[in-house]
Amino acid sequence: MKNIKAIIFDAYGTLFDVNSAAEKCKDKIGDKWEGFADYWRTTQLEYTWLRSLMKRHKDFWQVTEDSLDKSMKTYEIDSSMRNELLDLYKILSPFKEVPEVLKLLKEKNFKVAILSNGAPSLLNELVKSNNLENIFDDIFSIEEVGVYKPDSKVYDIPIKKYQIQKNEVAFLSANTWDVSGAGNYGYNSIWVKRNNNIFDNLDFVPKHEIQNLSKLLDII
Ligand code: LAC
Repeated sequence: MKNIKAIIFDAYGTLFDVNSAAEKCKDKIGDKWEGFADYWRTTQLEYTWLRSLMKRHKDFWQVTEDSLDKSMKTYEIDSSMRNELLDLYKILSPFKEVPEVLKLLKEKNFKVAILSNGAPSLLNELVKSNNLENIFDDIFSIEEVGVYKPDSKVYDIPIKKYQIQKNEVAFLSANTWDVSGAGNYGYNSIWVKRNNNIFDNLDFVPKHEIQNLSKLLDII
């Protein structure tokens, strides 16, 4: 890819493993932990899209709590686990190659940023708890525009701040719908294919597909 000035990452599912909160409780939750974690994540995302359509914004932490409450009822998880799961969500683990790749990118002359649904305090805590606070030029939150991805107002945030063209951004997400949203907006959108998902039919074909972030250094 040529003329890339900024490398922008989605946070949840791309840099940080959203399943790691439930996984850390798998002894208490039992075999259903993975189904529960997927259901929680899907419900959380549905709530972001529905709230944006209904114009009834709540920040990502509130949406995370609301979706957890429904998921715990659906999967019959003991309510005593609620606080533990929420506390673990604040300190999700990064995928294993993430710290090293981010350090290498930082040494090159790119702007390196996060663009996420997460509320600013949540994102700052997540980055800090994983000792990544010196890496990012910016941690952009959708709270700046009060609407969730994939609204184009969200993808506009870094363009306005850096005064660059859309095609000077490499955007990475493991969330197929976010890859499509960012790609339709005009970013060079790259799919981090961390599992065997099939890509969406949403009028966009990713510029690249990589299995994890290590491969990013070969394509920029
Ligand atoms: C985010 C969600 C989409 O970090 O993963 O914005």
